[in-house]
Amino acid sequence: MARRRMVYEGKAKILYEGPEPGTLIQYFKDDATAFNAQKKDVIDGKGVLNNRICEHIMTALTGIGVPNHFIRRVNMREQLIRACEIIPLEVVVRNVAAGSLSKRLGIDEGTPLPRPIIEFYYKDDDLNDPMVTEEHVIAFNWASQQDIDDMIALALRVNDFLSGLFTGVGIKLIDFKIECGRVFEGDFQRIIVADEISPDSCRLWDIKTGEKLDKDVFRRDLGNLSDAYSEVARRLGILPESGNKVAGPKLVH
Ligand code: TMP
Repeated sequence: MARRRMVYEGKAKILYEGPEPGTLIQYFKDDATAFNAQKKDVIDGKGVLNNRICEHIMTALTGIGVPNHFIRRVNMREQLIRACEIIPLEVVVRNVAAGSLSKRLGIDEGTPLPRPIIEFYYKDDDLNDPMVTEEHVIAFNWASQQDIDDMIALALRVNDFLSGLFTGVGIKLIDFKIECGRVFEGDFQRIIVADEISPDSCRLWDIKTGEKLDKDVFRRDLGNLSDAYSEVARRLGILPESGNKVAGPKLVH
C-alpha cells in the first residue's frame, strides 16, 4: 500500500492528500501547545475529542447554511475536508473580556463586552501572530475588502450559533477564533470557514461556576485538559454520560 502524502503539518493537526482532487484529510494530534509552542505537552485523547467536537459543530453550521470545509468524519482522529486556499488570518470574536484583550487593555477577565468585538491576527509564528487592522490586511494583500466583509459576516453568524448552542448546555462562549479559506467555483470565489472549531480555539466557561472548559486549562495549568474537553463533549451529547449509549444534548434550565 502506498504511503499517503502529507501536505502540511501544524502544531495540533496534520493535513494529508485526500481521496479525490479538491479534498484533504485533516488529522487531529494529541499535541497541545501554548504561547507559540513555548509550552508543549501530549494530552491523551485530545485529538479524538477535538475531531468529534469539531464534526458536531461544523455539521450543525452546515445545517444552518454557514459554508465550511467539513465533508465527513472518517475515523476517530480524521475528517475529510474540502481543500481551500487559507487566508493567513486568525479571526477572533469576543463576547466577554479575557486573555490577550484583558491583558492589553487592562479590562478584568469576565467583563461582558457591549457588543461582539472582532479582531484579526496575522498568522506568522516568527512574528508571534501579531494583531493587525483591516488597513494592514488590504495593504499587504492578505485579503480584499470583500473578503473581510465576508469573514466578518461568517464570524458573527458562527458567534450567534455557537453562543446559543453552548448556552443550551450551560456553557458561556467567551471568545473563539476561526480561520477562513477561499474556494473557487467557476468564475466565482467564496469564503468558507476552515481549520477547526473546538475547545482548542474557543474560551468556554461553565455558566454557573465559571469553571474553564477550554485550552486555558492547559495554558494556565488549571487541571486535566482531557477531562475538561470530555465534559464539553458530554454536554453536547457526543460522549455517553455512562455506558455506550450516546445521549442527545442535555438542556440546562
Ligand atoms: P487570546 O485572548 O489569547 O487572543 O485568544 C482569543 C481566542 O482565540 C481564544 O478563544 C483562544 C483562541 N486562540 C487560538 O485559537 N489560537 C491562538 O493561537 C490564540 C493565541 C488564541
